[in-house]
Amino acid sequence: MTEFDLVIRNGHVATSDSEFDGDIGITDGKIAAMGEGLGEGAGEIDAAGRLVMPGGVDSHCHVEQISSNGVWTADDWFTATRSAACGGTTTIIPFACQHRGQSLRDVVRSYHDLAGPKAVIDYAFHLIVSDPTAQVLGQELPALIKDGYTSFKIYLTYDALMLTDRQFLDVLAVARRDGAMVMVHAENNDMIAWMAERLLQAGLRAPKFHAVARPMLVEREATHRSIALAELVDVPILIVHVSGAEAIEQIRWARDRGLKVYGETCPQYLFLTEDDLDRPGREGAKHMCSPPPRDAANQDIVWKALQDGVFEVVSSDHAPYRFDDPEGKFKAGPDAHFKQIANGVPGLEVRLPLLYSEGVRKGRLSLKQFIALTATNAAKLYGLYPRKGDIAVGSDADIAIWDTERKVTISQSLLHDNMDYTPYEGIDVTGWPITTLSRGRVVWRDGVFDAKPGSGVFYRCDTPPALDAPPRPVTAFDPVEGRLRP
Ligand code: URP
Ligand code: ZN
Ligand code: ZN
Repeated sequence: MTEFDLVIRNGHVATSDSEFDGDIGITDGKIAAMGEGLGEGAGEIDAAGRLVMPGGVDSHCHVEQISSNGVWTADDWFTATRSAACGGTTTIIPFACQHRGQSLRDVVRSYHDLAGPKAVIDYAFHLIVSDPTAQVLGQELPALIKDGYTSFKIYLTYDALMLTDRQFLDVLAVARRDGAMVMVHAENNDMIAWMAERLLQAGLRAPKFHAVARPMLVEREATHRSIALAELVDVPILIVHVSGAEAIEQIRWARDRGLKVYGETCPQYLFLTEDDLDRPGREGAKHMCSPPPRDAANQDIVWKALQDGVFEVVSSDHAPYRFDDPEGKFKAGPDAHFKQIANGVPGLEVRLPLLYSEGVRKGRLSLKQFIALTATNAAKLYGLYPRKGDIAVGSDADIAIWDTERKVTISQSLLHDNMDYTPYEGIDVTGWPITTLSRGRVVWRDGVFDAKPGSGVFYRCDTPPALDAPPRPVTAFDPVEGRLRP
């Protein structure tokens, strides 16, 4: 008679707050015991010499979503989750994206229809709110929050998705009243549109002008504005995909004032620069995302902010549009100008190895910081902890086993998404997840992926703990309660 379904034996087990050498016993998909010399498992994995970590939680990725200019992501729920699993990630939180005129309920239903039969690892959803009608604000959002969709992203740019400041305030008020985290894409739309118009009038159409149209101050202004709007409503916010110094300064400024402002950055702001947008021919399009990658000095500042705790999360912002495909980046035609090229870069599978190699191996981040930034903090922020993001008795057995000495030159040919390029081609990394377990199932081992479409399941998110912060009112009138404060 065996004691566990599976035992991972003799690994170096690390979490965001502890490390030990020993075993993990797994039963019914959950961690049942941890320690030395555990009893036998029906299955055993020898992890001697390996690092055993919580599987990654990638809390910002776009899967089977149509972009603001009408291009479908290349990955569906099978290829995206397969790619995530092969890169050591065991939970993803993509978006159910409302386009104007749509009911959010219907949107959520249709994303479930896509995800349910195909996902191979577990997932939750953020909502994207682009049409905050009275029905959405008064009924759909509160009901969806109760049902476990406790975070929503709003855009301050992209004509098709963006909210006005007033609409943004309405959404913030719902978040405070009903208990949700608002994620903000912070870029000033009019500045971008104005710059882009003038660039195009001057005949400047190449991918590199994407970055010229969206200088750092565009992000700085929108970041500061978002912070001020959230301060007025007195609710936490999270600024997503922060690209560099000036937005970081705004987050630091807010934190110094005691505001609950959280930050996320992504590998593209650590590994790519605006020079990548100036590669020959159309190649620059492979590196186009919003906000755009900045320069080496900004990369250093982003690293420093990771070390200092300005960021809670490093996510991929996986937004995969194929390069050599009429339905991809250049759907608008081979001569598309920078405004017409689909924005976004892939990164689900390489997020962890890139950050581990350049962060932990090069001494920029401790192992605990790495695990917090790539798994635990996201689970906590979005109400999935302790089910996800940790190795602890009672948590799901979502585990990545790493060969920390493995040297890999990143190449699209190694990856398991549905893309035809990676912007990280040719980057050398040391350390790679060689085994991934999703709720105790081995889905990736020694180069072999093995999971059935539909074996991943949907998780409802709890109320984000950040919402429990004590009030910090700035006006005598409480605009959410609609009355003067006592
Ligand atoms: O360029 C990006 N980041 N594309 C994906 C959509 C978004 O704004 O996150
Ligand atoms: Zn965004
Ligand atoms: Zn995104």
